[in-house]
Amino acid sequence: MIIVQLSDLHVRPPGVLAYGRVPTNDMLREAIEHVNALRPRADVVLATGDLVHAGDIEEYAMLRQLLAGLSTPVYLVPGNHDDRGNLRKVFADSEYLPDTGEYLQYSVEDHPVRLIGLDTVIPGKAGGELCLHRRAWLEETLAAAPERPTVVFMHHPPFRTNIDHMDVIGLEGAEAMGRLVERHPQIERILCGHLHRPIQVRWRGTLASTAPSTAHQVVLDLRRGTEGAFALEPPGYQIHVWSRDTGLVSHTAMIGRFDGPHPFADDGTGGVG
Ligand SMILES: [Fe+2]
Ligand SMILES: [Fe+2]
Repeated sequence: MIIVQLSDLHVRPPGVLAYGRVPTNDMLREAIEHVNALRPRADVVLATGDLVHAGDIEEYAMLRQLLAGLSTPVYLVPGNHDDRGNLRKVFADSEYLPDTGEYLQYSVEDHPVRLIGLDTVIPGKAGGELCLHRRAWLEETLAAAPERPTVVFMHHPPFRTNIDHMDVIGLEGAEAMGRLVERHPQIERILCGHLHRPIQVRWRGTLASTAPSTAHQVVLDLRRGTEGAFALEPPGYQIHVWSRDTGLVSHTAMIGRFDGPHPFADDGTGGVG
């Protein structure tokens, strides 16, 4: 099973740049082309929040139009730039999104790896939360299939990244989530967004990670107390490959035009790789 993770798409209305500078829609189009060209093909695409930039209905219409170009089913969870109401309106016919209740949380049962999407949004805030209600739902959902390998996906990571200005807008309820996660060893991975960079950590008996953005990246700055900034480093996405033999193996794909591929010529230096 091949799980593609796209994150932080920050889609804008047609012709509008994010922060007056980033052509997020064109960049998502390129990401989708890249994903469609994967062989073997991806089985599912997970989009881990900040799907659009301002939460406007016009942006969700644009997102829907762009995602229609994917040749793979896509599952969305919201981030701090999203608006649940507008997301629901535009994707009302999506079978996986819950029709009732406040939160956009759900599980996908029809693959070898069980997928659980979480909603970490606090409306109007940059930081996120997994409140008592959402944790109770997660506990119940995990308890329903303790033997099945499971991927949890969400926008705000439950771990500190050492990128200070992003940690300040992290996840409330992370400690309680950690205790819950420890009780469910079937969790292969917790896949997150928000950081606009690939970051990994061993966390509460599993692995947790963030993904690059398909658009702008957060500057790699590990100093305390600095202002946040973004840069147009190469965009990317994650590919998580599952088999019983290997478990879940994660790759980072970079999107762009690069020199190569070139064959490994035998030049007597130790061979391939
Ligand atoms: Fe983002
Ligand atoms: Fe975010």
